[in-house]
Amino acid sequence: MKLTAILSLLVLAPVALANPLEPGPAAEGLEVREAAPEPEPFGSLENIFEKRSCKATKCVCNKVQGQFCGNTKINAACLNSHVYECNRSTGKACDYGVRNSCKKCGKLSC
Ligand SMILES: *[C@@H]1O[C@H](CO)[C@@H](O)[C@H](O)[C@H]1NC(C)=O
Repeated sequence: MKLTAILSLLVLAPVALANPLEPGPAAEGLEVREAAPEPEPFGSLENIFEKRSCKATKCVCNKVQGQFCGNTKINAACLNSHVYECNRSTGKACDYGVRNSCKKCGKLSC
């Protein structure tokens, strides 16, 4: 019980401290882990065309709508140097691909 509380604080702290008003990656498994681990084989293919040039990912985010640079230290699914858009309602981010500023300094603009 106590240990669990401490552990969750340790996991939450970096995200909470980073910048509460800005979108960013969230550690996997905190709140938005899905019940079904298997992605549907056909549905996901169709979604790619619905969502502009933004590719669905397993990168979970802090439910603040907007773009952010991935950070594998926080979540291995949010790749460094890639820019993501956090979806406020799903808590998942889609991938816009590599951005130079993310690669250079880990931010949307350096
Ligand atoms: C968030 O995801 C939902 C479900 O996929 C989608 O309908 C909605 O348009 C998305 N919102 C944004 C801002 O991308």
